[in-house]
Amino acid sequence: MSKKVFVKTFGCQMNVYDSERMTELLGAHGFAATSEMGEADVIVLNTCHIREKAAEKVYSDLGRIRQVKTQRRGEGKDTIVTVAGCVAQAEGDEIVRRAPVVDLVVGPQSYHRLGDLIARTRAQSRPIVDTGYAEDDKFRALPARTAGKAVTAFLTVQEGCDKFCTFCVVPYTRGAEFSRPVADVEAEARRLADQGVRELTLLGQNVNAYHGLGADGRPRPLARLIEQLSAVSGIERIRYTTSHPRDMTDDLIAAHRDLPKLMPFLHLPVQVGADRILAVMNRKHTAADYLRLVDRIRQARPDIALSTDIIVGFPGETEAEFKATLDLVAQVGFAQAYSFKYSPRPGTPAATMSDQVPEPVQIERLHRLQAHLAQDQTSFNSGSVGKSMPVLFERQGRHAGQLIGRTPYQQAVHAPAAPSLLGHIAMVEIAEAGPNSLSGIIRMGGSGQA
Ligand code: SAH
Ligand code: SF4
Ligand code: F3S
Repeated sequence: MSKKVFVKTFGCQMNVYDSERMTELLGAHGFAATSEMGEADVIVLNTCHIREKAAEKVYSDLGRIRQVKTQRRGEGKDTIVTVAGCVAQAEGDEIVRRAPVVDLVVGPQSYHRLGDLIARTRAQSRPIVDTGYAEDDKFRALPARTAGKAVTAFLTVQEGCDKFCTFCVVPYTRGAEFSRPVADVEAEARRLADQGVRELTLLGQNVNAYHGLGADGRPRPLARLIEQLSAVSGIERIRYTTSHPRDMTDDLIAAHRDLPKLMPFLHLPVQVGADRILAVMNRKHTAADYLRLVDRIRQARPDIALSTDIIVGFPGETEAEFKATLDLVAQVGFAQAYSFKYSPRPGTPAATMSDQVPEPVQIERLHRLQAHLAQDQTSFNSGSVGKSMPVLFERQGRHAGQLIGRTPYQQAVHAPAAPSLLGHIAMVEIAEAGPNSLSGIIRMGGSGQA
């Protein structure tokens, strides 16, 4: 009987990618993936440290896992409990002290050693903590990607961050900026395309700062990487996330005009609209800089859909400063947005700033902001009704005979469609729009990008 691994993922898309790579790696070590925690010989929590709530969820999960482990022990079975990801990196030994059920702690830069670490954990009774930054290239040490039946895939091209926004743990949990060489990214893209993947989302905490080495040993910007990946046969669509406004270079903006496979959607976190707060956050741009950037991007690609991240209740934020965020939101008109209450994170400069905003004020601002954002998202989706859009079908819908796909603007679309259309692009006339998805009817089969 084969051994099993259960992986649960918290946090961002980069963690989703890492979880896939860990699952593949353990597959090569003889572990089959399971969605039943109770039957797993190895449990991996791939964690997120970005806000307190995300980090605390891990400990409540570990409480439940302790019961599972005890029960399995009663049945004579061993369970290796692993904490991976950004909480692992940030808290290290502290995790084992707080939750003795944990056998193994492994950081985002050392998970390529997971197979050996599990073998060592089995052989010794003490927990192991490995949060070193690998000297070797993690990506090169991992087994080759397997896409399964997926139509879309994440592909991490850049890791880490050198920006040090004063609220953020990422520079500490993921380390310094690092870009994968162009040839490595291309090889992974080809492999995914050969397995049926049609859309790639290139990932990085600061993806538009990408500067991976080309064949001549000189660094290439993200725009050139996207151009090169456009030539990979089978890849129909390319997206990338997350971008910092400061690194939105002219050539990348031009790529949105010139490269048909680059989708007209951009996630561009702004955080707040008040310049004083932007400065204290160390964001390195003003509200006016951001708006000018949005203008330039829209000049290059007028139909582009913009998405953002916003924080409310950063230390010292006044009502007037919060209103500056609402103003900026009104001026841009985001197609989509994520918004959060500021959460003080240990070790970051903002956590010890004296004028923390009381939670009730944060909550009230968040509600007000989210009402605006929801309205903008709904009106963006309503604007699609009556239009025909190329939809890439990604998966089965909940109902028989229905598929779910996405428009170039990343909106989810439900449509009655034959399963043979999975992995294909078809023109869909949008009949209805909700806050989170669209539905419509296929007008014309086959492939073709708008
Ligand atoms: N690298 C990306 C995203 C980093 S984390 C970027 O630079 O934009 C994703 C989002 O989480 C951030 O954009 C920010 O809005 C939010 N975030 C980060 N730290 C936070 C904190 N301490 N409290 C609340 N939200 C936070
Ligand atoms: Fe965090 Fe700022 Fe880096 Fe984004 S740019 S990961 S918010 S430090
Ligand atoms: Fe969370 Fe780490 Fe991603 S802190 S948001 S999992 S980079």
